[in-house]
Amino acid sequence: MNTPEPRAANAQRTDTMIEDPPFHTIIEPFRIKSVERVRHTTRAHRLEALQRAGWNLFGLRGEDVLIDLLTDSGTGALSASQWSMMMRGDETYAGADSFYRFEAAVKDITQLAHVMPTHQGRAAERILFGAMVNAGDIVPNNTHFDTTRANIEARGGVALDLPCAQAQHSACALFKGNIDLARLERVLHENPNRVPLVLITVTNNSGGGQPVSLANIRAARELCSRYRVPLFLDACRFAENAWFIHLREEGQQQRAPIEIAREMFSYVDGATMSAKKDGMANIGGFLALNDEEILTRCRTNLILTEGFPTYGGLAGYDLEAIAVGLYEALDEEYLRYRIRSIEYLSERLASINVPMITPPGGHALYLDAAAELPHIPWNEYPACALALAIYLEGGVRGCEIGSVMFGAQPDGSEKPAARELVRLAFPRRVYTQSHVDYLVEVLERVHAKRDRVCGLRMKSAPRVLRHFTATFEPICAPASQCVFTSACSR
Ligand code: F0G
Repeated sequence: MNTPEPRAANAQRTDTMIEDPPFHTIIEPFRIKSVERVRHTTRAHRLEALQRAGWNLFGLRGEDVLIDLLTDSGTGALSASQWSMMMRGDETYAGADSFYRFEAAVKDITQLAHVMPTHQGRAAERILFGAMVNAGDIVPNNTHFDTTRANIEARGGVALDLPCAQAQHSACALFKGNIDLARLERVLHENPNRVPLVLITVTNNSGGGQPVSLANIRAARELCSRYRVPLFLDACRFAENAWFIHLREEGQQQRAPIEIAREMFSYVDGATMSAKKDGMANIGGFLALNDEEILTRCRTNLILTEGFPTYGGLAGYDLEAIAVGLYEALDEEYLRYRIRSIEYLSERLASINVPMITPPGGHALYLDAAAELPHIPWNEYPACALALAIYLEGGVRGCEIGSVMFGAQPDGSEKPAARELVRLAFPRRVYTQSHVDYLVEVLERVHAKRDRVCGLRMKSAPRVLRHFTATFEPICAPASQCVFTSACSR
């Protein structure tokens, strides 16, 4: 008889199924249950909106923005599971059920002993540094986020960036977020008793949303143990970092993101977290740590400014949203779509030679404004000009990460930032592939007009965190055909 015996036939069918090539179309791994209208505007309307905002994109009203890529922080869509648990939010002042569900989720993922909710990430930073950093102390990090830096400096400390060498080049390296271990060792060696803690930011937001490898965190742990200095994670985007490790680090391909995340946290003494990112919530954060003595000091501070330790400035329903969101951020299907969607954008832009940081980050794509607008010197803020041109062209709002954000010095002078970038950060589960295709068209048009984008003069600025409220005006030659023409001051 020629009929194959059933087991073999089944085995063959299984093989065929495994060999099916993957589909190329990226689909969102969710369907939409509730929608929010976005508004198309004309160029004239946008020009007026910019003038009203003092040429600062932070000054725009949300309704004047079509696609808002200012930040991925607190801007995500909640899932049906989150909403349903939020209805169970327990608003008891002390000892609410919602706190215990929140605490269990954080402990399950981080394995850290003590958890304090805070109203957002910077509150966790302020409380931690208030307990650990004194004037003259040095706090190394792969790259400090602006609030982290400001909170350390507010304590009189020095926020020291130690990005790895590959982070400086646009060449493709797999873990460009890594901390420079040799420089870290030197700092620890040369400054006994002046380094109260070391931080590693995952993913490295200010450094281009780039991931940090398990090997790097492990090696930093060994160094910190040798010098008896605690190691903390700034864990805002821990799930995206875990996915990059899954994709790129040797031997990690079979591991689920949650296992990788647990290993990341296993090397640290504590973590600050903004749940507005990989907590998939619109507000919230936490500080988690092992040391009882630091915990006691932090807790006092927490009660003083955030609230009782079982709510920390959050409503019970916020704690519920985070408890569910932390796991949703670790879902493989979601992470695959999220990272792939930004990678797709970078591929499309690379094909039309738009300069950017490669490989792209997890939550954002970073355009290289210094390369795109070489005719604009750093003190006329090329990244700010590029972000404005993108808004004017298509109603898309990005964020300057350059000399406006990082150029102001404590003595009132200005220095060029290391890079002039425009960050296009993607809210979680909000925009679809067609929004990404529209964005490509907008950027293509701006790229074609790049010679006609002029620089900016800063008209006013506060001394600290000036990028939020500084005002500007475009400066261009009278008959220059500048994209900002009707607003130019010379
Ligand atoms: N650390 C990092 C790496 C961040 O990206 C942020 C916020 C914070 C700390 C502070 O958290 O906003 O909850 O107080 N980043 C947002 C952004 C604002 O747009 O990148 P927060």
